[in-house]
Amino acid sequence: MPRVNVGLLGFGTVGTGMVEILINNRQLIEDRLGAEIVLKKIADLDIVSDRGVKIDPTVLTTDAMEIVNDPEIDVVVELIGGCDQAMEYVVMAMERGKHVVTANKALIAEHGKQLFETAEQYNVDIAFEASVAGGIPIIGALREGLSANQIKAVSAILNGTSNYILTRMTEEGLSFDEVLSIAKRLGYAEADPTLDIDGSDAAHKLAIIISLAFGRPFNYEDIYREGIDNVCPEDIGFAGEFGYCLKLLAIAREADGHIEARVHPAFVPLDHILANVKEAYNAIYVEGDFAGPTLFYGLGAGRRPTGSAVVSDLLDIARNHIKGITRRVSPLSFSRSPAKELSLKPMNQVITEYYFRFSAVDRPGVLSKISGILGQNNISIASVIQKGRRTHGSVPVVMLTHEAKENDVRKSLELIDRLDVVTEKTVLFRVEKKTGT
Ligand code: HSE
Repeated sequence: MPRVNVGLLGFGTVGTGMVEILINNRQLIEDRLGAEIVLKKIADLDIVSDRGVKIDPTVLTTDAMEIVNDPEIDVVVELIGGCDQAMEYVVMAMERGKHVVTANKALIAEHGKQLFETAEQYNVDIAFEASVAGGIPIIGALREGLSANQIKAVSAILNGTSNYILTRMTEEGLSFDEVLSIAKRLGYAEADPTLDIDGSDAAHKLAIIISLAFGRPFNYEDIYREGIDNVCPEDIGFAGEFGYCLKLLAIAREADGHIEARVHPAFVPLDHILANVKEAYNAIYVEGDFAGPTLFYGLGAGRRPTGSAVVSDLLDIARNHIKGITRRVSPLSFSRSPAKELSLKPMNQVITEYYFRFSAVDRPGVLSKISGILGQNNISIASVIQKGRRTHGSVPVVMLTHEAKENDVRKSLELIDRLDVVTEKTVLFRVEKKTGT
């Protein structure tokens, strides 16, 4: 039986999942592949801790270069994480003619262009299914399953930590800080959850998704992002009254020669399929021009789901390798630059609906001052709620708008927040359209 030799860089959680699958599903993998996947070497700084998987200790090394320089290794799996060292090893592996599998979203989202060029130069494959949404095969779907389509729009929940926090805040009425500490205790949030809650993790994943959807590498730095740390139970409550829930959404749309790409908390209509994506689950809703809407749902993190994505990439590469084929599908599924030139739309040109929560004194004429400024800036109000009546202090005045331009919204809020009847900075969330509106 043919053999495909693999070297693993990084024996952490996902690496352990990969090894577990190769051991547990060995027969199935050989039946599917008609070849044997041999894990020839594993490099990690810690080669003594027990990971709970049975491996021959002689495959372990602390020297990653033993893998990179081993002429018998056909595929290098990079699960080190971070950019600097991972980039160095991945490039060296490709220069030595080895295919690469990586789960490293930062690496692909920040250095995709260079990596894909290097893979082309050395005629090797690079696969990165595990870099986006763990066990959900969204990369494969965009590269192959949906490749007949022009992708019109993607709306996605790509960060499990944020989705878990927002779900608990919604269902239990708890504050962000309260839920964050519960999430840390239960292992749903890292000790330092910054990249998850500030939108960076979702933006990395969205950059990879839109690179595949539109056929050219997009840098994640160019994607507008806001996190969930400013979400409070009051706004979640108002969202519910208007028939929405709050989710951290990653959105990409193609329109008028531009791509809109943004990550921020958004009001999602309760009857939208993404409103039911709860806890730490991820989902990607893709609209193709011919396939129509498709939904990909599942676990976006963890040893087993992410390990599954890594091993499916290994199988894909191994299939090509044993047939003597490389680069059957190019990394972004486009063999040349797409004829359609699309540039990223600046955030201030984005048009969407909005939710505002003003903190205003409860006096006659206050609403007309606020709505006057909105009207002068082309913003049309769809509904308003004012709760309670206070002669002292402020009351929340909550509003939904029809579609408006971000630039007009920013200009209006700057003026409104300077009014003497407005006591605090206005809270803003973008709103996903209800169907039929
Ligand atoms: N930290 C990510 C999340 C999973 O919370 O979804 C890894 O990408």
